[in-house]
Order: sequence, then C-alpha cells, then structure tokens
Amino acid sequence: HPPQAPRISVVGTGYLGATHAAAMAEMGFEVIGVDNDPAKAQALSEGRVPFFEPGLPELIRKHVKSGRLRFTTDIAEATAFSDVHFICVGTPQQRGSNAANLSYVEEATMQVVRNLTHDGLIVGKSTVPVGTGMRLRSIVAENVPAGIDAELIWNPEFLREGKAVDDTLTPDRIVVGGTSARSEALMREVYAKPIATGTPVIVCDLPTAELVKVSANAFLATKISFINAIAEVCEAAGADVTVLADALGHDVRIGRQFLNAGLGFGGGCLPKDIRALIYRSSELGATKAASLLQQVDEINMSQRQRVIDMAIEACGGSVLNRRIGVLGAAFKPLTDDVRDSPALNVAAALHLRGAQVVIYDPEANETAQRMFPTLTYAESVEEAATGADALLVLTEWKEFSAAKPEEIRSLVARPVVIDARNCLDAAAWRAAGWWFTGLGASPAP
Ligand code: UGA
Repeated sequence: HPPQAPRISVVGTGYLGATHAAAMAEMGFEVIGVDNDPAKAQALSEGRVPFFEPGLPELIRKHVKSGRLRFTTDIAEATAFSDVHFICVGTPQQRGSNAANLSYVEEATMQVVRNLTHDGLIVGKSTVPVGTGMRLRSIVAENVPAGIDAELIWNPEFLREGKAVDDTLTPDRIVVGGTSARSEALMREVYAKPIATGTPVIVCDLPTAELVKVSANAFLATKISFINAIAEVCEAAGADVTVLADALGHDVRIGRQFLNAGLGFGGGCLPKDIRALIYRSSELGATKAASLLQQVDEINMSQRQRVIDMAIEACGGSVLNRRIGVLGAAFKPLTDDVRDSPALNVAAALHLRGAQVVIYDPEANETAQRMFPTLTYAESVEEAATGADALLVLTEWKEFSAAKPEEIRSLVARPVVIDARNCLDAAAWRAAGWWFTGLGASPAP
C-alpha cells in the first residue's frame, strides 16, 4: 500500500491562510482551515471570502464542494485531523514601535502543539523577525504532550495580494528552513506539484529561511524608494523618471518591475516588514542594514507628504473648503486592502486640513469607509470628479487610466490633476486642457 497522503491544517485564514488552504486543496490534499473568528470560518465554509482577491472565491467554493476543504474554529478538530500544520496568522507592527507583534504566532503555535494527538510537523509561514523560529521551538518543546513528536520548520510565503492564487499555485521558489531529513521529504511531498513543474527548492537553516522572506520585501521596498529618490533628481534636472525606469529596466540585472515612481509603497506587508527588519537589525547590532532601511522608510513616507503639499499648492496654498476628488483608496490595484494605504493616508490628511474630499475606489470604498467613516465616498470616477478643484490619482486602477480626460474635464470646477502614480497619459490630459502634474518629470510646459 502507498502511504496515505499527509493531511493539512492551516491556522489563520486571512489573505495568506485562506489562499494557502485553497491552494493545498487544489494540489490534491485534504485541508482544514482554522480561524478563531467564527464569522470568518463560517463565511469561508459557505464559499464567501471576506476580502477581494481575484480567483480565490472560485477556488474555495470548488474545494468546499469537492469535500477536500473545510473551515473550523476548533483547533483540536484540526490537530486531530492533520499531520502538517501551517501557521499563517498575522504579525502586525506593534503600537508605538517598529517591532513586529509576535503574540498571534506564539499563541497559534502553542495551541497547535498542546492539541496534538499524534506526531506533527508545524510549518511557520507567517513573516517573522529572524530568530523567531528558534524561540517557537522552545514553546514546542515545553508544550508538546508526552509521547508525541513535534517538529517546527519555516517555509515563508511570497504571494502578492491581487495575484495570491497564482503566486501560491506556481511560486517562484520554495524555501524550507530548519528541516530534518523526514520533514524535508514531507515538504517535498506537499509541494510535489510545483516542484514537478520546475519550481526550485531552497533547503536552508531556520534563520536563513526567515530572513529570505524579510530581505525579499526589504529589497522590493528599497527598489521603490530608490526610484523615488531618483525621481526627485529627475524633477530638479528636467528629466523624466518613467522613461529612465524603462531604460534601466532593460538591464536584466536591474529589471523594470518595482521601478514605478510615485506615492510609494503601502499595504499590510512592505512597510511593517522593513520596520521590523530595522528593529531586529538594530537589536542584532547590524547597524548598516538598519540605517539603509531607515532611509528607505523615510523616503517612502516623504512621498505621501509630497503629494499632500502638491495638492495644497495646486489649490493656491490652502485646501480649506476646496473640493478634492480622490481616485483610489486601496494600497494598490486589484485589492480592497487599505492597510497602511498611501492613498487613504493622503486623502485623510487633506480632509484634516479642511478639504472636502470625495473618494472613489472600484473595490475599496467599503473597507476605506470602515477605517475613515468621516470621508465622503463616490460611486464612480465621474461622481468623485464632479465640482472638484483638484483631482488626485492615488491608486493606479486600470479604470482610472482608461477615463476620458475630455469627459472628466466637463465635470470639474478646475481642470487640475495630480497623477501620483504616473499612470495617466500626460500628453492626452494636457491636450484636453488639464493642468497636469505627475511625479518625477518636469512640470507642465
Ligand atoms: C508584497 C510582496 O510583493 C510579496 O512578494 C510578499 O509576499 C508580500 O508583500 C507579503 O509579504 O505578504 P503586496 O504587499 O501584496 O506584496 O504588494 P506589492 O505588489 O509588493 O506592492 C506593495 C506596494 O508597493 C504597493 O503600495 C504598490 O503600490 C507599491 N509599489 C509597487 C510602488 O510604489 N512602485 C512599484 O514599482 C511597485
């Protein structure tokens, strides 16, 4: 008889966990997702995903129906059922500090270990500061029931929101850290499908696996702040950062991706991950990494201030009682996520300065409204633009670049547009009579 396929539990069903659970089911395994929020577990059980992620609801419904995927709030049910336990809970930034809050990861690990009824492999997937896995291993050792064998390894996840399903089914690489021969074999079995199609596997020690993940995000963040720093030079020198990025991108050592200058990075990962790395590097005495990434964070945050200042200037020195149409609330397109969203940050700051801000986002109006209920939300580009003294494009949704500058012009009070994502066709907007400014190019002729 062939040995039975490992059964899988996924603890935490946010972006990461829900996607990972569905992907594991798609790869042929029986999967149980665990969340301590009953509403979330219930919604997922009914095939409803409580956030916008293209393709995910379909995949979850497919496997809830196939019987390979179910969700529960009962950790004991999950541990009794499965052999491999993925930890996918959040590691948010701590209040008033750069450090990551590890209480959810510690609690989830503890819960899994205490409830083990047979030998199990605990696989950390959450993004954690280097050194966390080692600490969790002592939690495992102290809490594992007598006679049961529990191992803890790290297998970071690199999925992007908006592309989470594809990224999980066909990852660029699989990193597993701290494995024994047995757990490595088990991981190769779990990821047999992507491995069969050529996905490289990097087997390393625990700290390296943890650090690969945070360095990947730190590098992406650095790329963005680099191009934003060069954008400043472009503006001062009369050069065009978009053309420059295209030219740089042809060098395969550099690459064109993540060289879009603009409002900078936000979301639930990049900002908090570089801050956690700044904090952890300082703790470890690695001062060069800390000071480099400090600059990356500062440059990034200054982009938001820059756009706020540009809006104020465009309104003649004050936005008080000015109507400002804001296109975009999500931290990037193809998501309804507004965590640390540069767009919402700018909108809220202008509102605080007395502007009448009207926001439209194709997917994130609702999540934005929950965070900033006092702002005004519109149902379309046209509604946000109507009567505006200035129009700000803060997230580069396709719907915004497809908007017709002539038509929008007839709706606004003043044809002033700030393209903070360099996503509009500047020449077309200028030709339609707009006073147009982007970031990182010489001002309107
Ligand atoms: C990021 C990483 O890209 C993933 O690989 C990683 O797995 C994930 O964090 C995570 O740690 O979970 P995500 O936060 O979904 O993914 O978003 P990105 O696509 O990386 O975009 C981040 C921010 O950078 C967005 O605000 C985006 O607008 C901004 N950005 C991106 C730029 O300002 N310029 C660019 O050229 C590219």
